[in-house]
Amino acid sequence: MKNLSKITEIEDLRRVAQRKIPRMFYDYVDSGSWTETTYRNNETDFDRIKLRQRVLVNMEGRSLATEMLGTPVKMPVAIAPTGFTGMMWADGEILAAQAAEKFGVPFSLSTMSICSIEDVAEHTSQPFWFQLYMMRDMDFIANLIRRAKEANCSALILTADLQVLGQRHKDIKNGLSAPPKPTLANILNLMTKPEWCMNMLGTKRRTFGNIVGHAKNVEDISSLSAWTAEQFDPALSWDDVARIKDMWGGKLIIKGIMEPEDAVLAARSGADALVVSNHGGRQLDGAPSSISSLADIVQAVRAEDSQIEIWLDSGIRSGQDVLKAMALGANGTMIGRAFLYGLGAYGEDGVRRALELIYNECDISMAFCGHTDINEVRDDILVKGTYEHLKTALPYVAPMRW
Ligand SMILES: Cc1cc2nc3c(=O)[nH]c(=O)nc-3n(C[C@H](O)[C@H](O)[C@H](O)COP(=O)(O)O)c2cc1C
Repeated sequence: MKNLSKITEIEDLRRVAQRKIPRMFYDYVDSGSWTETTYRNNETDFDRIKLRQRVLVNMEGRSLATEMLGTPVKMPVAIAPTGFTGMMWADGEILAAQAAEKFGVPFSLSTMSICSIEDVAEHTSQPFWFQLYMMRDMDFIANLIRRAKEANCSALILTADLQVLGQRHKDIKNGLSAPPKPTLANILNLMTKPEWCMNMLGTKRRTFGNIVGHAKNVEDISSLSAWTAEQFDPALSWDDVARIKDMWGGKLIIKGIMEPEDAVLAARSGADALVVSNHGGRQLDGAPSSISSLADIVQAVRAEDSQIEIWLDSGIRSGQDVLKAMALGANGTMIGRAFLYGLGAYGEDGVRRALELIYNECDISMAFCGHTDINEVRDDILVKGTYEHLKTALPYVAPMRW
């Protein structure tokens, strides 16, 4: 295990990952759609919420332990599903799942992962969650759901906000693909990433493991890009949710909810959890930040008397962000880039470090706010006036990132 004690914040992991992984994969992670305004606001809106420090309160015996979907977790943070993860580091999904399992938080595997469902199941002992992108090819979807069941996945995440694809300029300019095409620019860039190249040479897993060899007529990388471009199903609607729920027969999470009306529909659909998420600012640029959308959604769903769990992702870069989300009524959170930076920097050790950092920041901040149990944290730990009107407040311009 690497000694990463000098890595003291997620930003450190981001910087190391930027240095170590090929540019097209780094850019794929650290970008949002179009102007990236929503992507930036996801982070900066967290910064605008202020915490109330309390003193001389007994802060012994603290715990961040809670449950997500009835499963005990060490803290209310799950690893979000992310595509191409095995391109950040060889066998990335397996390593991240192992890190999550050892730490005591849930792991989600994307439809667009490099390591397949079976691969991850074989290398882990705890059940993980599987994220489903609805595709037009229903035989493929039925097969994918069957494979997830056979692999003992304990919940299905239906991603609801990707019927059409947001555009990220850098991915087009870089010609993103898995594996990278042997163009001059790519070869020159790969020559500066020796550790990444050596690790990749040591694995067979270099393209989309859930798709290639499973979808009709997709046997290699060239047929794959044509297939994915036409497969995301723009016709997906609430009627399909019941059908998917029946096919799956287990716990269902709907991810990508941004408005109270949709949250209420998700609650009525019988789903077990919903994720307030704008896909990390990668879909509708111009949408509000995810944290600014949370409180209205919590209010609308709880007014229905629904027990559905409400989680939040998009913009979480520290344990303080987790604490703020919990204070505003979330029952849990998910992290995307925070773990991907760890993975790209140091593989499994980096994911572990990312989780440790978030844990420690959340724990210490909770103590400063005078609490010892994450389940008892409410919005009275937040300074009034700093969180109620984030959606309509003047935009905050973040400092430049180098
Ligand atoms: C590189 C990357 C790939 C992603 N791929 C997927 C995916 O395959 N399926 C999915 O449902 N969400 C995907 N997402 C969205 C994440 O699940 C999550 O909503 C988002 O990362 C949260 O924002 P954060 O990165 O600011 O934590 C992806 C996000 C990133 C950054």
